Formats: sequence, structure tokens, C-alpha cells
Amino acid sequence: MNYDLVMKLALERGFYFPSCEVYGDAKAGFWEYGPSGVSIKNKFLQLWRRELVRRDRMLEIDGSQIMSSSVFEASGHLSSFADPIVKCKKCGATFRADRLISETCQVEIPESAALEEFDKVITEKKLLCTKCQGEFDAAKKFNMMFQVGIGPEAEPAYLRPETCQSIFVDFPRLYKTMRGKLPLGIAQVGKSFRNEIAPRQSLLRLREFYQAEIEVFCNPSKLNEMERFSEVQDTTIRILIDDKIQAMTCKEAVDSNTVPNKLVAYYLGLLSEFYEKTGIDMSKSRFRKLGDKEKAFYADVAFDFEVETTIGWLELVACNYRSDYDLTSHAKKSNEKFEVMDGEEKTLPHVFELSMGIDRSLYTILEHSLKVDKEHERTVLSVKPYLAPIHVGVLSLVKKDGLAEITDEIYLKIKTKVDAFLDHSGAIGRRYRRLDELGAPFAITVDHQTKEDDTITIRRRDSMEQSRIKISELETILSKEISFP
Ligand code: GLY
Repeated sequence: MNYDLVMKLALERGFYFPSCEVYGDAKAGFWEYGPSGVSIKNKFLQLWRRELVRRDRMLEIDGSQIMSSSVFEASGHLSSFADPIVKCKKCGATFRADRLISETCQVEIPESAALEEFDKVITEKKLLCTKCQGEFDAAKKFNMMFQVGIGPEAEPAYLRPETCQSIFVDFPRLYKTMRGKLPLGIAQVGKSFRNEIAPRQSLLRLREFYQAEIEVFCNPSKLNEMERFSEVQDTTIRILIDDKIQAMTCKEAVDSNTVPNKLVAYYLGLLSEFYEKTGIDMSKSRFRKLGDKEKAFYADVAFDFEVETTIGWLELVACNYRSDYDLTSHAKKSNEKFEVMDGEEKTLPHVFELSMGIDRSLYTILEHSLKVDKEHERTVLSVKPYLAPIHVGVLSLVKKDGLAEITDEIYLKIKTKVDAFLDHSGAIGRRYRRLDELGAPFAITVDHQTKEDDTITIRRRDSMEQSRIKISELETILSKEISFP
């Protein structure tokens, strides 16, 4: 399955589409989720809460999207959250320098490299503007945060470029009021904003996007004293080592020093178990340790969780060991205390984060689940039943002879318990195909026999198998088959 087919499905079946699309001044990099997209996103997040937040007894917060300048002075984003750009002297078009260079002459320069490195390659390779063949100005840094003006004086503040800053700023209060104990995970789902130079590929590089971030506060002297590690020690994780992906258990990863300690390995294990349940093809996944020049400015050690798609390897989660970078910076800037008691020991916690891109994860689930069934001339979204935007289609074979009324009655009974879609009109085959594209694992049909014996047909999406069940059995079957594992 490829990107274009996913896009077709997204546009035609209400998964996602461009924002403000009826206006000519709509800006790139902003997309909306339609009803099917919202439904799968909500279920994905339910799974995330279940498998990560609740499983690890984390705290979840919901912080502000606009935050004060001080936050980003302390975090380093005002000084360091910038992309290298080059501008054409002739037509004024702006490009991300690292991408321009990698796409036109296949030379990889990390985005954090010194500006002279970009200028050097551009001069050596005689690179010109891809739009007008003009020459480029010297490379510059462009800060990717969106500034906003607060109140009539338009005092500067910023849309957050990552959700985690409120977790850091709120940490002392949360630790105290929620009777925290290290290691403690604090989680947040929400929108972040980045003024990307070249947003592209719909959900894959957005200017406004969803993150699900987890910041684990830990005592740096106890990274190998992790009782919960035993829960995942036999879980397989796939790690890229010397250009080869090696599957190993979390225990083997720690013993061989591939992963620096039990705390990090524990969370990589949890994350792998979570993604397995999303239906992503894990044989196409890997953790990749980032080199020094690739890491974000706040990270000491970083593993990206990446998944292979038809448009290449996508980073779905950044797993960053941020050490005491954030708490030290906020303590210094705010003059507040961020140390906490860990038993008898006073400590300034370190942070390990799992920063998940929700939009990219959803794209990957769609791409890995979408199948073209040539034999039956249908496209099927074979998502896990618990993630399906619609759980069950409720259909009448024909509207007449009282069948529509029985169908409505069934629909009314189940509609608050599962995601049901009522459909009376059109050829039954076409209605099934539409439900297949929406990923509905089941369709039930009311026909003339229903009037005689209270049975309905239940059709399964993947096998297309049909069987008859009693109307009274429907709720039990559905709740069993669509419940989270
Ligand atoms: N918080 C890390 C990131 O946004 O990538």
C-alpha cells in the first residue's frame, strides 16, 4: 500500500483533509481530522493510556498551549530551536538547507551542524535555487516557534513547540500534591506548534500537530534499580546496530550495554508492547540510537523508534534521556526549588522521555493496515477491531416490509455502546465495501428471515464470512470482539 492510496482513503472516507481548503490563502502544514480520523485517534489514545499511562501508574495533565517567554528562555528553545535555512537572492524562495543538500546532491548534513558546513557544500557543489536557478545567500538559523501577542500590548508569548515544558514547570507541585515517588512518569496529550519551513506529506510534517509525551522523572543513581523491569525483561525490542536490525530481549539489551540501563530498557519494552497492539507491522520497526549531531539540543542519549513505510523510515517516537537539563534550567530561571526527596535522599531528578507523534503513528497504522483485495475488488482497512473508526455497520437488506424498522431498533439499542453506522440505502455489496474501507470489523444485515426467527447475518470484514446469529447475541459478540486486549 502506498502513500497515495492512504491519501485517497483519508480524503474520501473522512479520515483527514487540508484545513481551510475552500480558501485560496489556506496555509500548508495544517490538516483536520474528520469523523473517521477522530474516532481512530481517540481509540489510539485510549490504548496509549491503557498500555503506558495506567500500566505504569503515571500522572496525566493537560497544560496550556500558550506559554510565557521565560519558559522558552529557560528551555533553550528561544536560542536553539532553529532550522538552518538558505534564501535565494533572486526569487526569495527559502529552503531548509539540510534538506536541499540531501535531496539535490545526496550529502547528509545534520540540521544542528554549524552554518558554515551548509555554505561549504552549497559552494562546492554549485547548488542553485530549484525554482529560478538563482544563487543563495549565506545559511541562517530560523527559529521555529510561533510567537503570539498577549493583551492589547501584545506582550510576547509562544505556542508550545513540545507539550513537555508544562510537565517540567509543573513537576514540583505535582510531585508534592500527588505524593510522587521516583521513578514517576507524567504524561500529556495535546497540540504542539512548529513553524516548519517545508511542511509536507499531510500528517507527516505539520505546523500544528499532536504529541503524546511522557516524561519519566528518575533518580540518576538508581537507573538500574528498577523493580518493574522484570515485567518486560523478556520482551523483544529491535535495535539498529552497525546498520543491521537485531532483535533482542530487554534483558539482553541491558546486559550487552546496547541500552544504557534498566530504566531506559523498561520504557523501550513498554513502548514496543504498545505498538505491537496498534497493529503496526513490528517486523518493520527499529530503535535507532542517534549520533551526537542528530540529537536534540537537550538530549544526552537518544533512541528514535522508527517504522518503515512506503515513503521511508518514519520517526514515531523520540526517546530522549534529557538528564537534569530541564529541571536545572527552570530552577535557575525561576529561582524555585525542583529537588525532591527520594526516600531519605534529596535529589534533582533526571528525565527520560517518550515523545510520541500521534499523527505519524496514525498514518503508519493506516498504511500498514490498508490492503487491496484484488480477487474481491475491494480495499480493506484491516485495523485491529478495537481501533476501528466504526465497529459495526447496521444494514437493512431492503427498506420495505418492516425491515428498516427492525434495523433502526437494533441500531438504537447499540449506538451508545459501540461505534455503529446505520445504512439503509444502496446495493448491499457497495455498502459492505464502504464499511471495509472504514475498517468496520463487522456488518450486520436484517433480512426477511429476521422477521421469522429474530436472526441477522453477521459479516466479518477480513474473511468476508457470513453467519447467522440471534439479535439477542449481538451485543455480547461485539463487546467480546472489539474490547482492548
Ligand atoms: N519533547 C521532544 C520533542 O518534541 O521532540
